[in-house]
Order: sequence, then structure tokens, then C-alpha cells
Amino acid sequence: MSKPPHPWWKSAIVYQIYPSSFLDANGDGTGDLAGIIAKLDYLKDLGVDVLWLSPIYRSPLADMGYDISDYEDIDSRYGTLEDWDRLLEGAHARGMKLIVNPGLFDRMDLVLTLWFLFLPITYNDRQHAWFTASKSSKNDPKRDWYIWRPGKVVDGEELPPNNWKSVFQGSAWERDSATGEYYLHLFVSKQPDLNWDNPVVRSAVWDVMRFWVRRGCDGFRMDVINCISKTDDLPDAPLVDHTQYYQPATMYYVNGPQVHKYMKQMHTEVLSPHDLITVGETPFTHEASELAAYVLPQNRELNMVFQFELMDIDSPSESPLLRKPWTLKELKAIVGRWQQFMHDDGFWNAIYIENHDQARSVSRFGNDSAQWRAVSAKMLAILQITQAGTLYVYQGQELGLKNFPRTWGIEEYNDVASQNYWNLIKEQRQKAQGKEDVEMSDLLNSFAQKARDHARTPMQWNASPHGGFTTGTPWMRVNDDYREWNAEQQIGDETSVHAFWKRALKVRKAHDTLVSRSRYVLLHAVVLTQPTLPPFISICISASTPSIPLILTRAHAKIYGDFVMLLETHEQVFAYTRNYGSTSALVLLNFKEGKVEVDLGEVIGGVAGYTFILSNYENEAIGLEEKVTPSDYEGRVYVREALSN
Ligand code: GLC
Repeated sequence: MSKPPHPWWKSAIVYQIYPSSFLDANGDGTGDLAGIIAKLDYLKDLGVDVLWLSPIYRSPLADMGYDISDYEDIDSRYGTLEDWDRLLEGAHARGMKLIVNPGLFDRMDLVLTLWFLFLPITYNDRQHAWFTASKSSKNDPKRDWYIWRPGKVVDGEELPPNNWKSVFQGSAWERDSATGEYYLHLFVSKQPDLNWDNPVVRSAVWDVMRFWVRRGCDGFRMDVINCISKTDDLPDAPLVDHTQYYQPATMYYVNGPQVHKYMKQMHTEVLSPHDLITVGETPFTHEASELAAYVLPQNRELNMVFQFELMDIDSPSESPLLRKPWTLKELKAIVGRWQQFMHDDGFWNAIYIENHDQARSVSRFGNDSAQWRAVSAKMLAILQITQAGTLYVYQGQELGLKNFPRTWGIEEYNDVASQNYWNLIKEQRQKAQGKEDVEMSDLLNSFAQKARDHARTPMQWNASPHGGFTTGTPWMRVNDDYREWNAEQQIGDETSVHAFWKRALKVRKAHDTLVSRSRYVLLHAVVLTQPTLPPFISICISASTPSIPLILTRAHAKIYGDFVMLLETHEQVFAYTRNYGSTSALVLLNFKEGKVEVDLGEVIGGVAGYTFILSNYENEAIGLEEKVTPSDYEGRVYVREALSN
């Protein structure tokens, strides 16, 4: 069987499922594995290649399953390990049906349907057997599996070992009465940080990973993986927030001193024998050179990371739950920077604008009013499907689901991040104003735009009660618009957001230029003058290392396309080309309400030869003129083949 000329995960469409909110098959109000199994055909039909599930392990749900009490078992809310096996089998079966001819492996649309296991391994839950042993005594063999320190006494008062603030507010340390020492938890107190500096802990983590690989998983999403190594001696963080004692300390645990040593070891010990997809979540840093170290192929660590620069565009430094205005110029600069970043060296992007930690993209980057919701959600789909990288779609994004309304009160915000930040600000205000009843509507305004809760409302399958998500009482309220905005109503409607996503994913798969990138220049002339070469071979020369010509198959060459920003300072239109050799794709996105005229003649040197392939306005071909006037939130994609293949 010939090997595909590029890793399968580069062209894969990954769909993230938030199991609690996907589909509840047993009526207990929480989504489950049986619900996901019931929707495998829906996912396959959409064009999904890889399923990524947020955690389904045993958990007390202090952070919705990201607090894990057993890495090798499924929480009974979701089902059993046997259900997991059934889901895996069902997913693989659908993928396998498409593998009709190994000789076609280089085709984008013949990727296996794969399982993508989420793996939060930075920390684990307080109830986990490892932690129960660790906290029992200072002499327990597992004591050093976590980060324990004595408190420090200042002016006769015992304080935590340092002033680090937890990402979810308060101290990052919790005192445990059994030994009177404190353990570190960067997130909630039920998520004690593992001590990755202990080699025995690392090998226990490798064992957990091997357990899931043996069970058939096809990859890992690694939670906050850039936080596993802490600066020696855990120094106090500098004072930047004068409103409280606890201070942000990311400089002491993000991209820490040993992180790359540990990642390389993970690669050698667990990943290297398998053909897996690996993506690391890397928040709290935008430092591209630091993130490159995880991804560059020669480092042998991860396939890609979720960088946060775009997701942080509208967040002030105080909290991602607050909102600051963003401009299209900023968004373009960020997207362009990552699209072009170290492409000669093999850096690979993860393309996403939604996940379970972010508000809905149509509410954030589009326009979720009745008039523009569908159009702008489709325009954002074009933004995603035309970028180089592995594409991630979050559940409900394919329906254009939006944030829940501002009229919902704080009691609808279940997320620990929302609850803790709300309580902190409320207490600060109560203290400052000396009264119980303080004004909080400004915070609710921010939450209505930015809270993680918006991504976690149940999926809207149909117009029946609770959107068809459950026959019981849903664990979280379904968004009010489910009667008119749901999957059943959209499927089969050619003008729907769902139909558009389906079409857009097909376009991406049919046009390899959109998926990847490279500076390789295809020299067809060489092919023509080398009659001894088989017809499917092309010779490519890297622009950065022209002295080393590479021989690639024609199909391989075709998937590469670089990214060139056009109209860089334009405040309303995001335009770019993706080019590889003889193929160019031109992308035009009007990000605002109101028509706008742009002159392409000057920036792309002629529009001849461009063929229309996709628009969120019309299905009929729209020819390309030098002067184009995209309508409100209109997006268009054209392709030009200068030389026929
Ligand atoms: C990751 C998860 C997020 C969780 C956090 C702490 O960032 O994506 O949902 O709250 O880790 O557990």
C-alpha cells in the first residue's frame, strides 16, 4: 500500500464535540456517548473526518470534566468504556467505507474517520487515586507526584507558599489539613497540578496515553500543555494588580524551563510509533517563536498548537470575560502573521475561531442580528476554510448558533470561570461601597458577549422542547431561538448555514491550494523538458533553499499554497490569495454591514482566468471584475489555474 505523500491530519476536518451538550440519549438531561453515536451519520454527511471529544472521563465536574478522577474510565453520565468502543467502531466504520482504493490515498476526501481523544494531563482531580495517596502523608511514595510546599508566615500570619493567582481567581494554592501543606492548582482547587519534574509521574502519564492508543484512539488534544513545567523555586509574581494579593504568574509556568524536554520525551515514548494527530493547547502567550518550538517537525514534539492570539483580540489583560473593541486591521494582521509564520520551516497551524472556551463566533466576529446572522456566519466559514492549517469546527458552528441573550441572568452562567469572576468583582464592589446590593449590569453586558457558557448551551437539533437535545431537563438551558434555528430546519434548506458549511468543506477538500502552504515553486517547465520522468512527478525548488530541488508527486505539490495579504490596511475588506505554483485562490471577505468597492486590478495585476467557486450570497457564478463591490458581509472565493495539470 503506498503511503500518502503528506500527513493525513493536515487536510482533516476536525469537529469538536462537547459531550454534555451534544445529544442526550437516555433523558437524564446530560449528553452522552450513545447520543454521539446516534449522530455519526450527521457528522459524516457534514464532511467531518475527525471527532474530538471534550473530556468524558470520571469527574466531579468542578470544571466540566477537565477535572478528572480516573483517566482510564468513562464517567457514567456519558456511558461506559464499551460505549466508547462502540463509538470508535462506528466512527472508523464510516471512515473505512470511503477507503475504496489505496492508490487514491493522496486525495483529500478519502481520509479515515478518526477518533480524537482529549487529554488533560497537566493536572488531575483531587479525588484521583494518585492524589488521595499523595495527600495522605509527607512520606507517601506519591507525595512528590504533585507540587507540595509549606505555607509562609508573614507578620505572624500563615500565607500560601507564594502569591500566584489561580486562572480561576483566588490563590493557586490550597492548604490540605492532613499534612498542613499546600498543593499547587493553577486552575480550580480540584485540579492539583502534577509534578512533571518527577520522572515517575511522566512515565505514569505515558502509560495513560498508551492505554488510549491501545484502545484505538487516533490522536490527542493536550490541555494547557505549555503549563507543565514551572520555574524552579516558584518565586513570587510581580505586583501588577493592586486590587488583590494574588498576582498573575504566567511568566513562571508558561513555556517553562523543561517543557520541551518533556514533550520530546512524550514523542519518543508514546507518539512516535503511531500515526496520530496531536494538538497542544497553548494559552497565555502569543510569542510565536516560543510556540514554534512545539510544532516545528525537526523538534519532534506536536503536530500543531492552538495559539490564542486571535482569541485574545477582544480581551483586556484583566480577564478574557471582559471585552475590548477590536479592529479588522488587527484581525487581518494576526491571521496574516500566523498564516505566513515559518512556513519554509514546516510550522503548521490549527485553524479555529470557536471552541468550548470561547463565545460564539457569529456573535463575536460577525453580526448575529436576524438580518445578518446567516450571511455573516457563512462569511466566517469562508475565512476558516480558506486558511492553511488543520481546520477545527465546533459543535453548532455549522448551524450558526449564537450567544444566548443579554436578558439571561447570572444564574444561567454555570461555568466556574464566570461564577468565580462574578463573585470576585461583586465582593470587591461590596467592600468598596460598603453595601450588599451593588450594580453588576456592566459585567453581565460583558458576559453576554464573552463568557464560555455561550458555547456550552445544548445543541439545537429540532423545534421540539429543549431543541430535541433531551427528553428530560437539560443540565443547561437551551438558547431561546431553538424553535426557528435548529439542525432539522436547516438540513435540506440550500440557503442555510448548515448547507453552506457542507458546501464549503467540499470546496476546501477539492482545492488543495486552500489547505496548505509552502514557498515551493513548481517548475512545470522542468517536467516538460524531462521526458524521462513519469507524468505524475514534478520538480519543485524551495524558494528558501533553491539549491535543493525536491521531487514531489504532482498531487503533493498541489496541496501547497502560500498566503499573500492584499489591501492590508483596508478597514472593511479582508482579501488574500493562496498560491501554489500554477494555482491561485483569491478570497474576498467584507467584514461589515454596507457595500464596499475595492479595486483588485492594482493589487493582483489582472483578474483574467479567475473562476468563481464559492460565495455566501449566490450559488450562481459571479464573474470577477477589476473593481468588485462585495455586499454586506459577503465573502467570495475564486480560483485560477494558469497551467492545466
Ligand atoms: C483548558 C480547557 C478549559 C479548562 C481549562 C482548565 O483550557 O480547555 O475548558 O477550563 O483547561 O481546566
